[in-house]
Amino acid sequence: MLIIDGKKVSSDLKAEMKVRVDENRAATGKVPGLTVIIVGEDPASQVYVRNKAKSCVEIGMNSTVVEMPASTSEEELLAKIDELNNDPDVHGILVQQPLPKQIDEFAVTLAIDPAKDVDGFHPENLGRLVMGHLDKCFVSCTPYGILELLGRYGIETKGKHCVVVGRSNIVGKPMANLMLQKLEATNCTVTICHSATKDIPSYTRQADILIAAIGKAHFITADMVKPGAVVIDVGINRIDDPTTKSGSRLVGDVDYDGLCNVASAMTPVPGGVGPMTIAMLLKNTLQSFERSNGLQ
Ligand SMILES: NC(=O)c1ccc[n+]([C@@H]2O[C@H](COP(=O)([O-])OP(=O)(O)OC[C@H]3O[C@@H](n4cnc5c(N)ncnc54)[C@H](OP(=O)(O)O)[C@@H]3O)[C@@H](O)[C@H]2O)c1
Repeated sequence: MLIIDGKKVSSDLKAEMKVRVDENRAATGKVPGLTVIIVGEDPASQVYVRNKAKSCVEIGMNSTVVEMPASTSEEELLAKIDELNNDPDVHGILVQQPLPKQIDEFAVTLAIDPAKDVDGFHPENLGRLVMGHLDKCFVSCTPYGILELLGRYGIETKGKHCVVVGRSNIVGKPMANLMLQKLEATNCTVTICHSATKDIPSYTRQADILIAAIGKAHFITADMVKPGAVVIDVGINRIDDPTTKSGSRLVGDVDYDGLCNVASAMTPVPGGVGPMTIAMLLKNTLQSFERSNGLQ
């Protein structure tokens, strides 16, 4: 079985982007800037934000983290977003989720200038994706990373049956829409499964490409997969493991060990889709910078 190594591909991508950032700096004297807003003190969010900032700096981009207290009102957050929308040195704005209860996440998504929405969550970007204008939108980072992995590993997609399990706005829906597009790297027949789908295995067993974005450890087992299928595991789940120092470890939505003799190619967790998500955030930020400076 081929292991689809997201850690390696993301590292290659970052090296390629660093070259472009350096070339752009030489040509314009400017570098891309990503601003991440974090509201409150959720420890997992703090780790994610630190990792994003570190990756930016690694490839020579500017990274700013705006920390706001958990008591921040929606108005205060929207005012901060407005300020960043109007700052020419900010090319990407990301508001780390989850947000405190008093803030409406959709209002925040709508407030971000679509031209700086490097998460690709704004309806204008999602709408352009659905309509196939991928060169004129930001594709949300996790599906975009999966597309990049399939492309770099030369996985054939045209005419294949892609089954996506999960229909969230940030993974499942954009992923399924992406695989449906009439592009060289997609062009699949697509089925989407969710929590109300009856007899999920009857669908997953038909998949040439199976993408699991559910959030349930080891949900996809060997008996649910067609021999030779390509399996992409988006899930990140923490399970108890007394054999580790911390007493727990991260696993995906797929029973990786059980599928090793069934799938033809598979992403591991960790080291598969996860590292690609951050790499594509950087790619979107670089793209935003290049668009706003007429470099494309
Ligand atoms: N690797 C990365 O970079 C990355 C990025 C984002 C997310 N993730 C991980 O990916 C997983 C999914 O994330 P998400 O944000 O898409 O989660 P989410 O918003 O919770 O969506 C989960 C989806 O799975 C479906 N689902 C839940 N239980 C199911 C069941 N028993 N049978 C069938 N479908 C079921 C839900 O169906 P309904 O719509 O019917 O509720 C929903 O559509 C999580 O583990 C998350 O941590 C990883």
